[in-house]
Amino acid sequence: MTAPATTQRALTMVVENGIAVLTFDAPGASVNTFTAAVQSELRETFDAIQRDPSIRATVFISGKRDNFIAGADIEAFLEFRTADDAERSSREGHAAFAAIADGKPIVCAINGGCLGGGTEFALACHWRIATDAPKTSMSLPEVQLGLIPGAGGTQRLPALVGLQAALDMILTAKNVRAKKALQLGLVDEMVHPSILRRVAIQRAAELADGSRRREARKHGAGELLLDENPIGRAIVFRKAREGVLAKTKGLYPAPLAALDAVAAGYSSDGDGYHTEARLFGELAMTPESQELVFLFFATTALKRDMGVEVDPLPKPLPIDKLGILGAGFMGAGIASVASPAGTIVRMKDADTTRIAKGLAAVRDVMRDKLVKKQITRTQFDDLMLAVSGTTDYTGFGNADLVIEAVFEDLQVKHQVLREIESVVPPRAIIASNTSTIPIARIASASARPERVLGMHFFSPVHKMPLLEIITHDGNDPQVVVSAVSYGRKLGKTVIVVRDGPGFFANRALSPYVNAAGLLLDEGVSIESIDEALVKFGFAVGPITLVDEVGLDVATKAGAIVSESFGARMAPNESLQRVIKAGRLGRKGKRGFYVYDDAGKKGGVDASVYELLPTGQRRATVPAARIVQRCVYAMLNESVLCLEDGILRSARDGDVGAVFGIGFPPFRGGPFRFIDREGAASVVSTLDELEREFPGRYQAAASLRAMAESGERFYPAAGKPV
Ligand code: NAI
Repeated sequence: MTAPATTQRALTMVVENGIAVLTFDAPGASVNTFTAAVQSELRETFDAIQRDPSIRATVFISGKRDNFIAGADIEAFLEFRTADDAERSSREGHAAFAAIADGKPIVCAINGGCLGGGTEFALACHWRIATDAPKTSMSLPEVQLGLIPGAGGTQRLPALVGLQAALDMILTAKNVRAKKALQLGLVDEMVHPSILRRVAIQRAAELADGSRRREARKHGAGELLLDENPIGRAIVFRKAREGVLAKTKGLYPAPLAALDAVAAGYSSDGDGYHTEARLFGELAMTPESQELVFLFFATTALKRDMGVEVDPLPKPLPIDKLGILGAGFMGAGIASVASPAGTIVRMKDADTTRIAKGLAAVRDVMRDKLVKKQITRTQFDDLMLAVSGTTDYTGFGNADLVIEAVFEDLQVKHQVLREIESVVPPRAIIASNTSTIPIARIASASARPERVLGMHFFSPVHKMPLLEIITHDGNDPQVVVSAVSYGRKLGKTVIVVRDGPGFFANRALSPYVNAAGLLLDEGVSIESIDEALVKFGFAVGPITLVDEVGLDVATKAGAIVSESFGARMAPNESLQRVIKAGRLGRKGKRGFYVYDDAGKKGGVDASVYELLPTGQRRATVPAARIVQRCVYAMLNESVLCLEDGILRSARDGDVGAVFGIGFPPFRGGPFRFIDREGAASVVSTLDELEREFPGRYQAAASLRAMAESGERFYPAAGKPV
């Protein structure tokens, strides 16, 4: 018997032989989220199911092609005014999912991404089936927003998969693919997408008639030993806490709160759900969470921004064939992200040895993916087959885009540009990966400068999320749109900036690194500089950073900006002296720190002090002052970039600083930081620094104006971008 379909806004129900199939397909949205409307629809529907004697069990399935449920509606988080508001919303989630867990049998049929609240929903169901489609994965990414799972995830997940596996998922926000989910016991079955619905209906019927029961958990013996007794669990919690503190340096409250919530679930006197809701509420009000939520919105907004203000917006040109000039560090890095994006890649370099080295570097990245089981052996072979090398321009005749990553030398760049233009089709786009040379200067040698722009990748390319696209006044908007669209296809967060010395990222970074160098000139120890900035939240300190990017690269970038901006960026002496002594940083295995043969960083190389202006004499500057001197230089420079039109918005600057130069994510970015501190307070600190270091900290005029008017870069409440 088939009952008529009951169509509601997001949920559609069809009842067949006593099994209700509930399809979630949020209208007009690419993914399903638990908005307030959907939540109330869900409650009503489940109430109706419980009351309807003809329904014995339910199948819950998504109507989207590649998405099951993306989780909570994050915009709703902006409505929380107090911790109580957020706590209440968590409790409502608890009540709704408890009703599901305590109700008639429900089978969760998962195809595509199942995130956050989606995973928590699945945990409340009685049987979970995942498809083996590559897009199917489950995760609890709440810590990335400075939160914890707030709809029972910290309680139901450990109960289902054991403490260690649960902590691993909750603390790292990792994606668990279907096969792994099956191993963990997170899902009960894995099937091909074509039979998902049929199998789910069958299981629902079996659960309803009692012919199938939930299977017992299957953990490894060692895991059980630790998980199942209080002493073992205490060890697991202690280790997890140590791991979190080592990773976050105590700067991120969410993972620690997650540990407390999970622990409360095991304690005899505590109520785990109560603790989870309380901590969720408290975390929602922390600046850390608010800034991480801001970054979520900012990166989401950027995905819709094509980088040009023209109407109508041109369509991006297809980019299927990519030519890369230079198979060096960056060229090979770009190839390693282009091939997985489905592009055919041709790399050119001066000789076969360099080509072979470049191909080997690409292979290393792919092998890493293979080892991590992100790709299969066949995919590995296919990805490698898509990348080839040449010492002449064969294969460039049909390139859609050519990215040059040859030596950082204008003459060389001009020469290759002319060569490229003589072989590629007229429609081809030509991009330079230069880190410092103004794009207009490079484009000046071109016969079609409107098709030449900058695509500044960061190293290592396969790990760094940012791509800075640099445009000059003569660019064809379609060229820009195409480059932006392709950058996104490569999985990058793309900001479009205007041409100028250092563009945005290197320009904002330069005075920061320079300030660290000036501290070295005064005799401040390498450790105390790096430690101060790491405690502020940077992943590595500025001196370590210089070692990482290479002293040659850093001093070259420093020279370009100091030439353009004068006294504000007048170089420090220490870096010059160290590079003159032939130390290049990690790549040369000698810099400010020592490196072993495998490139692993050790402690500070004490002998480097002999090269510095003060020798072995040490000076002390308080950590807070070290932070001010470095960070405020970066804040001011970021504002100047906005003032000069290098940046199109404060949002782009914040995203660029966090994803390109490692500004602490929980601080949102330079502009968010200024808003939180208040422009007046930032200007007053800059004025004070300027008195001590004349010419270096002159507050940007626009910032001073904001200090006077009380204006901000972002609205004080509501959706930030
Ligand atoms: P690299 O020295 O590792 O590679 C450059 C490659 O270009 C070499 O293999 C060289 O043989 C090749 N080459 C030189 N002239 C050539 C020509 N006429 N035809 C074909 N190949 C030629 O240098 P790296 O680090 O890859 O830098 C390349 C570009 O990327 C530079 O413009 C640099 O400023 C920029 N960049 C570098 C970053 C870094 O962290 N290393 C970051 C962002 C940009």
